[in-house]
Order: sequence, then structure tokens, then C-alpha cells
Amino acid sequence: MATIRLGDVAPNFTAKSTEGDINFHDWLGDSWGILFSHPADYTPVCTTELGTVAKYKPEFDKRNVKVVALSVDGLESHKGWVNDINETQNTTVNFPIIADDDKNVSELYDMIHPNANDKLTVRSVFVIGDDKKVKLIITYPASTGRNFDELLRVIDSLQLTAYHKVATPANWKNGEDVVISPAITNEQIPGMFPKGHKEIKPYLRMTPQPNLD
Ligand code: BEZ
Repeated sequence: MATIRLGDVAPNFTAKSTEGDINFHDWLGDSWGILFSHPADYTPVCTTELGTVAKYKPEFDKRNVKVVALSVDGLESHKGWVNDINETQNTTVNFPIIADDDKNVSELYDMIHPNANDKLTVRSVFVIGDDKKVKLIITYPASTGRNFDELLRVIDSLQLTAYHKVATPANWKNGEDVVISPAITNEQIPGMFPKGHKEIKPYLRMTPQPNLD
């Protein structure tokens, strides 16, 4: 198992899923992707997480992001559990769940942290860009469900900063002012940021979000 770091190409794999066999890179195609693990089927926090992701699907679609979940349980277990998720969370699971019972993918992505639990995956999140490179890694313990609003917020920042020479400040939300990249000189600013800018300090220059009308 190699360490996966930001900027690395997301390792490819083939796996069984609730929507058929997946070749990860082929499945991603030209989309961005989220690969997230949960510790086990038929557990309460995971049930709420997968129900939430199903409800957020239109938001992921809007951002051209495909979502795939994973746990080390088998396909039959996943299929039965999906019925429970649909029933209890008032939704329809609309994304694949990988059945990683041979732990191939969990080990490839270092999702099992033995000092937390030597058999189950932790709550890993990998955001992968449309260039197949890893853009974000977050790891939560089993006892803490993820905040998928935060994940959407981070994707907005990742996609904005992938295409514009800006960075997003603390607690930034889509639509708010952004920071001009330190690599941009003051002379370059008017041509690159025609909406104007405010210099708070020479190293802290703010501009309206450039990809909005
Ligand atoms: C849960 O999803 O509720 C959960 C799973 C494993 C350990 C603790 C909680």
C-alpha cells in the first residue's frame, strides 16, 4: 500500500458494486469524483450518511461530481441495507456502493486504520478532479458522521481555484469574495480581475468571485 497524497493520480481499481462492476477510471470518465468509505452496513450513522448523499445527488450532478461509497461488506448485504436506507431516510440510493469484502480498495486507499479498528474502514473521503488527480483527503472516525454541506463547499472552492488564480479564505462560501493568488503581481490584476480588487495588505488582496455573472 502506497501513501496517497494530494496531486497523485487516484489509483485505479476494478470492484463489485450495487450498480455492477466498476473500473474506477472508466466510471469517472470526464467527471470529478468522490470516493468515500463507511465502516459497516446496517449501522446508524452510515445509514444517515448514505441517505443524505442520495438527497444531495442533484447538487453533486450540478458540479459534475460522481459519488461512490464503499464498505468492506459484501454485495448481498449492501443490497439489503439499501432497502433500509431508502425506507428510513425517505430517499432512493442513487449512486453505487462498492462491495470491498476482499479489502482490495480499502487497502489501496489506506482506509483501514488499525489503531482505530483493524477490520473496518474509517470514514475516508477522497475528492478526485477531472484530471483523475486527488484534490482533497479528509478522514473522520467511525463515531462522527460527515458534513456533506462542507463537502459541497470544498468542491466549490476546488473547482473555482482549479480554473482561476485565486484562493478561498476561511469559512468562504460560494458567492463570497476570494483572495488573489500571491503569484499574481499588482500589474496583472486589472487584466485578470476586471471586477476590481481591494488591497488590505500587499499580500492580502481580495476580489469578487471571478466565475459569477
Ligand atoms: C455507525 O455508522 O453508526 C457506526 C459504525 C461503526 C462504528 C460506530 C458507528
